[in-house]
Amino acid sequence: MKLFLFGYGQMGKEIEKLALERGHKISGICDPENAYKFDATAFADADIAIDYTTPESAVHNMTMSFEANKPIVVGTTGWYEQLDAVKKLCEKLNGTLFYATNFSIGVNVLFEMSELLSKMISQQDSYSVSISETHHTRKKDAPSGTAITLAEILIKNLDFVKTWKKLQTGDITENEKGVIPVYYSRENEVVGSHEIKIQSDIDQITLRHDAFSRAGFTAGTLIATEWVINKKGIFTMKDLFSNIS
Ligand SMILES: NC(=O)c1ccc[n+]([C@@H]2O[C@H](COP(=O)([O-])OP(=O)(O)OC[C@H]3O[C@@H](n4cnc5c(N)ncnc54)[C@H](O)[C@@H]3O)[C@@H](O)[C@H]2O)c1
Repeated sequence: MKLFLFGYGQMGKEIEKLALERGHKISGICDPENAYKFDATAFADADIAIDYTTPESAVHNMTMSFEANKPIVVGTTGWYEQLDAVKKLCEKLNGTLFYATNFSIGVNVLFEMSELLSKMISQQDSYSVSISETHHTRKKDAPSGTAITLAEILIKNLDFVKTWKKLQTGDITENEKGVIPVYYSRENEVVGSHEIKIQSDIDQITLRHDAFSRAGFTAGTLIATEWVINKKGIFTMKDLFSNIS
């Protein structure tokens, strides 16, 4: 496969390294802030694009890919307010989009476990629920896309919660009925940690995932890229897993 990389930051560089190890080629790289200007010929030559940039540029890069009939895999987070508009455009132009808030296999196991946990306690309103996440200080969006996905899973399944609220770890706040507090914290060099806690007067259950390196994101991104290359439509990790299992 010939890959076109949007973004040559931490993730872009790791994707390049692993892609070459897996026998793929890099047709071009676009990262104006790192002296890689967009090259239309290299883009046209690619089989598929991968985006690890910023929320603003990811939407632009997806639009350009749909218009050029080029499949795109998007790891960038923080653009989901525009998800509906992006989906509509992708469908209209018969494009291919694979996006994930988190490409790590381990985190997707956490998503599935959260689904099961919340279904099992869907009516047990003696539990209060909270989510917390910690990432490195360079992360631009907060809370993380992964924490938001976890909140959405819980809201979908729990009869006694309706919404979530962004808080910084350490914020003092009253427990609000029906609201999941989503705490974020930024600390040096933490790759990414996510925790769901449900607590009542009689017990507590914690689901937690800690990434030790970015290797999980990179491997998952390339597995998704290889899987989606000849497909049309909009896909997430759920589609990937349903095909594997
Ligand atoms: N989905 C996942 O599994 C996953 C995993 C890790 C990171 N992320 C997300 O991916 C994104 C990138 O993460 P990172 O750690 O590589 O960040 P980074 O800051 O190291 O790299 C982002 C790069 O994008 C470049 N860029 C900015 N505007 C651009 C544009 N218009 N065109 C091309 N390149 C542009 C920047 O110069 C920078 O080099 C973030 O949103 C992060 O939250 C997602």
